[in-house]
Amino acid sequence: MSKSIMEITWEELEMIDKEKAVMFITFAPIEEHGKHLPLGVDVFQSKQWEEETIKLLEDEFSDYEFLIMPPLPFGYGNIVGFPGNLHLKQDTIKRVAYEVIENVVNWGMKNIVIIAGHAEPKHLIAIEEACDEINTKYGVCAFSPMGAIFSNEKLRLNIRHDHEIEKLLNKYPNDFHAGWIETSNMLDIKSRLVKASYPEQPDICINHEDMVCPEKVSEKIKGFGHMGYPKIASAKLGELLNDWMTQTLFEAIRAFIIRDNYQIYEHHFLYNNPFFRTSNIVTGNRPLSHMKEIILRNGNKLIIRKATSEDAEKTANYKTVIAGESDFLTFGENEIAITTEKERESIESINCKDNSIMIIALLDDEIVGLIVFRGGDRVRVRHVGEIGVTVRKSHWGLGIGSFLFEFLIEWAKQTGIIRKMNLRVRTDNENAIKLYEKYGFKKEGILKRDFYINGIFYDSISMGLLID
Ligand SMILES: CC(C)(COP(=O)(O)OP(=O)(O)OC[C@H]1O[C@@H](n2cnc3c(N)ncnc32)[C@H](O)[C@@H]1OP(=O)(O)O)[C@@H](O)C(=O)NCCC(=O)NCCS
Repeated sequence: MSKSIMEITWEELEMIDKEKAVMFITFAPIEEHGKHLPLGVDVFQSKQWEEETIKLLEDEFSDYEFLIMPPLPFGYGNIVGFPGNLHLKQDTIKRVAYEVIENVVNWGMKNIVIIAGHAEPKHLIAIEEACDEINTKYGVCAFSPMGAIFSNEKLRLNIRHDHEIEKLLNKYPNDFHAGWIETSNMLDIKSRLVKASYPEQPDICINHEDMVCPEKVSEKIKGFGHMGYPKIASAKLGELLNDWMTQTLFEAIRAFIIRDNYQIYEHHFLYNNPFFRTSNIVTGNRPLSHMKEIILRNGNKLIIRKATSEDAEKTANYKTVIAGESDFLTFGENEIAITTEKERESIESINCKDNSIMIIALLDDEIVGLIVFRGGDRVRVRHVGEIGVTVRKSHWGLGIGSFLFEFLIEWAKQTGIIRKMNLRVRTDNENAIKLYEKYGFKKEGILKRDFYINGIFYDSISMGLLID
């Protein structure tokens, strides 16, 4: 049986057998959906999928109660320039999810399902993080399967679509927002809210690389608001898509209720990618996966984390200092103008990409080490990139270089994109070569006359690490 939580009394809620009850919470934003769809698309879809899934669950679990929360109509999003977006910061989404679920846990609920019908990875991952932390803290089960469902192909969950949909997914890929998929869904569930002008909307094709750069996306969708191909939408396709989603959600939640291998639906495929995670200072319950605290051999506490544009002034000062500390770098003292502004741009461009990262090591809030990895831009070289690493001379030999490498290699494995890391090192830089070999880098060749420093040529060794 299903009930709205708003229509029962606290006593009735208290009486419910919590072992046989599931709380449903939809969590998806009001936001622009092109000129042809209403602001509430994500909320309407989530509620529809929730309602239809509960019908299937009621047949299967006739002795269960399914409680329904009113929708939380906001989410994380980064597309600007349109009125009607109810977007909150990613950290805020995690906090809201955490606190809402915590309330529900305090009512005694043990099974909580979040239908986050908004495919933005940072929205989904914020909610998944909140669920994980609640589950660890309270020993309950909050479950948010939409991230895994939206990224089912990358996760290789092998959830087949209808043949016609499969064909269209191949022919019209990257239909991210208010394109043929969402327009079809809405034609199926709320056709009166779809403007008759939908077949006149232009195709707006955005690739995955551009998707992580909100400025590029905003520019491309300016004046329209959709990403994809609305003109091929139809109610029939919508029916197929909505049925697929309902059936998939049913399978996931069924597995969750009987606690049978439901973990495959717990996380978006990018869950372990630091770029998509919250800052992790939000609820403070868990060790930070993209920030590490390390006690050095000399007892000092080292912090290793990803650099953000707010670190630009510090990284600029750091680079200016280390330029004069070693002749093993591609730049020497006063040879390049490092400004805070240039650094900010550089960090922002790195953080825009899912295959690049800058990592800093801090002692007492001062940068003492830095490693940067830049992956290629094109499809054929996205999986490979070049590393640059430095540590302040005063701190050499304390293990900082090693910790930076450990962090970098862990990140590279988590991206699921990086398959090879390259670097170049002067043939006489023995300490650095030892460091690289310690982490499995292999010598691949000699680059003659690779450096020219104070009138002398130096050869370098090209080294590489395969990530498998
Ligand atoms: C190369 C560099 C980044 C190493 O950083 P670091 O923090 O000193 O390195 P670590 O303390 O983690 O040492 C890592 C490994 O390097 C080797 N190493 C470092 N210093 C060493 C030394 N004085 N003698 C012998 N081996 C040394 C060791 O194999 C060590 O591993 P171990 O401690 O397990 O034995 C740092 O020396 C540096 O910034 N040098 C100048 C810039 C540079 O050369 N960059 C690389 C350009 S390709």
